Amino acid sequence: MCGITGYIGNRDAYPIIINGLQRLEYRGYDSAGIMLFDGQEINFSKTKGKVSNLQEKVENDISASGSIGIGHTRWATHGIPNDLNSHPHLSQSGDLAIVHNGIIENYDSIKKELISRGYTFKSDTDTEVLINLIEEVKNQENVMLGKAVQIALSQVIGAYAIAVFDKTKPDEIVVAKLGSPIAIGVGKNFEEFFIASDASPFIEYTKDAIYLEDEEMAIVKIGREVAVRKIIDDSNVDAKIHELQLNLEQIEKGGYDHFMLKEIYEQPKAITDTFRGRLLAKEGIIKISGLENNMKKFLNAERIIIVACGTSWHAGLVAEYIFEDFARIPVEVEYASEFRYRNPIITEKDIVIAISQSGETADTLAAIKLAKSKGAFVFGVCNVVGSSIARENDSGAYTHAGPEIGVASTKAFTTQITLLALMALRLARAKGTMTSASYRLYLQEMELIPKKVKQVLEIDSQIKAIAKKYLLSTNCLYLGRGFNFPVALEGALKLKEISYIHAEGYPAAEMKHGPIALIDDRMPIIVIAINKGHYEKIVSNIQEIKSRKGKIIAIVTEGDVTVKEIADHVIEIPEVEEALSPLLTTIPLQLLSYHIAVMRDCNVDQPRNLAKSVTVE
Ligand code: G6P
Repeated sequence: MCGITGYIGNRDAYPIIINGLQRLEYRGYDSAGIMLFDGQEINFSKTKGKVSNLQEKVENDISASGSIGIGHTRWATHGIPNDLNSHPHLSQSGDLAIVHNGIIENYDSIKKELISRGYTFKSDTDTEVLINLIEEVKNQENVMLGKAVQIALSQVIGAYAIAVFDKTKPDEIVVAKLGSPIAIGVGKNFEEFFIASDASPFIEYTKDAIYLEDEEMAIVKIGREVAVRKIIDDSNVDAKIHELQLNLEQIEKGGYDHFMLKEIYEQPKAITDTFRGRLLAKEGIIKISGLENNMKKFLNAERIIIVACGTSWHAGLVAEYIFEDFARIPVEVEYASEFRYRNPIITEKDIVIAISQSGETADTLAAIKLAKSKGAFVFGVCNVVGSSIARENDSGAYTHAGPEIGVASTKAFTTQITLLALMALRLARAKGTMTSASYRLYLQEMELIPKKVKQVLEIDSQIKAIAKKYLLSTNCLYLGRGFNFPVALEGALKLKEISYIHAEGYPAAEMKHGPIALIDDRMPIIVIAINKGHYEKIVSNIQEIKSRKGKIIAIVTEGDVTVKEIADHVIEIPEVEEALSPLLTTIPLQLLSYHIAVMRDCNVDQPRNLAKSVTVE
């Protein structure tokens, strides 16, 4: 993970870099640092903690002047989060500075070699090894920075997005990428450039961006077009300038206390944006171009394998139920991290669907590379446009949820389910596995989902009142069946992530095989008990909990009578078809976790130890 930023031009670099780092804090926030070049000297400051800690430190440490600089916000891999391990790292001579996102796997052997040549190290990081390797190459080969970076990188194994500055060549910054993302914002007439892990740090300055591909590097030099080259053989690359669609409003809190809350409330719009132009309910049409263009492949597929991590994996589980029910295609859902290392059976008749909000998750990316190498067709469901996974796929569709900044995923989950449900419906129609009447019904139902999500959001204050009663809980159980079993997993994950309360999600019937032993009169159990599917079975499960004095918070359908009588609290959601119900049942669980976390004084948007985008395995 980690976020990197850089600026080179005529403006004051400090505020640009600091604001940029704040926007990238979703990528990691255990330490931060900045380097500025004032025309004479490299000045740098770094500290454990957040970017706000860095701001305070800079005021005491250095003169924050200069129109060239690089910055970093860290999620520790090699070396604990402390001041010394924070980036930027300087080379032995002090002439070169680097910020790095990724892992250099063979750093240890390189370090030993450098030590034998007289290098000493201040930190425990792989990054300090890399900058000294670049310096060593530069001196030994007597080459300029760009060439030295190219040679050094061809010796390292691992993943990186780096920005490197050389005080003896202060009109350029060299950047390179393998595995971790990097974007270059191009200023007017090439008079200034912005460097960042994604485009959010520079959208108010330029809409023109170059995204480096893996194994590419670029010399970013004032007054000159960006020279992109292949690291492997130094050959020229014709890099495209993309026009950014992002705007500032999308990445600000817009009056909400937290990004997470804003994103929960954005769901009606985000879901509408997911089916915009794709769902024409009145006409009975679903049109997703990535699917239409590959319809034959999907119709001939013997199996769909879904690979994903975290919340996206939960969306994959919901999709499994929906695809199998609607389109009768066998589906397997795999953790990308397991799939990539377990010698899976993959054939050319398989379709692999990779689900990823960020499109950068290292394990998911590796899983699809493996699937492609075995001849499977890979379809991506990503949110971030132009992300690595989106580029690596054979085909795909974006969720169009807009930027998700809160580390705990919310609108990404519901829009992933929306898109996958649309795909399943379209395939069901094409395969004839669903009657025309059911198909029409689901299309109408789908169109009503945003309105129903809004209705659920209107009972937020009731959910907040329930949250207040359980904020001191230490354990929590989430139960659901069928389509709502993955929602139980997701509800538990949300609570763990942001409130640090231990929570487990379970299929309700499995409760008897273990978790029931945990139940006592202090244990809150959240049960999804809507009036569809196996309602009677879940009512029996609720009775079983009640007999053991557990506290029940039930998500029920409007007008429910039976569960209301037994449960301690009920949260009502509008009537909805079971297969689409996860789009509604999820909302109260997100709000419940949010309020509990706020009341426990937790950092909702940046929970401890987590990062939004996991670009290391
Ligand atoms: C991290 C995030 C989760 C996310 C997971 C997968 O763990 O904190 O919210 O679900 O990565 O990320 P992706 O971007 O691939 O969906």
